[in-house]
Amino acid sequence: MSDAELLCPSSALEERGRALVFDILQYRQPARAFALRFDGRAVAYVNRCVHVPTEMDWTPGEFLDSDKRWILCSIHGAAYEPADGRCVGGPCGRGKLTAIALEERDGQVYWYPSRDIQPVPFDAPAGDPPAPTSP
Ligand code: FES
Repeated sequence: MSDAELLCPSSALEERGRALVFDILQYRQPARAFALRFDGRAVAYVNRCVHVPTEMDWTPGEFLDSDKRWILCSIHGAAYEPADGRCVGGPCGRGKLTAIALEERDGQVYWYPSRDIQPVPFDAPAGDPPAPTSP
């Protein structure tokens, strides 16, 4: 498994609260993922519906239905089980959200990149080298 990437403090993920949305590269393409807490456990998935490959949140970070029971795609209403990402109703069929491995330790949440899902590389600020100074 790859090195863990720090995501956020554990306290940032409230039980069935707003998800934390974060940028990733999936198959080397920019994509987004989200993490939320459900039944005490932090889980994360790629923000891409199985029905049509589009982002699912109603407003940024809002993925759960009004009862806070299911992850509900805002486009056509596919419902997913937050605990494991499997489709439980609607047009997602037998599909499943792409899970991202998380770990909580010492009050922090970490995620684990995989072969297909990588962190967005940090680019050093671009710029010209400093001009030579005359003595
Ligand atoms: S795009 Fe999510 S249910 Fe259709």
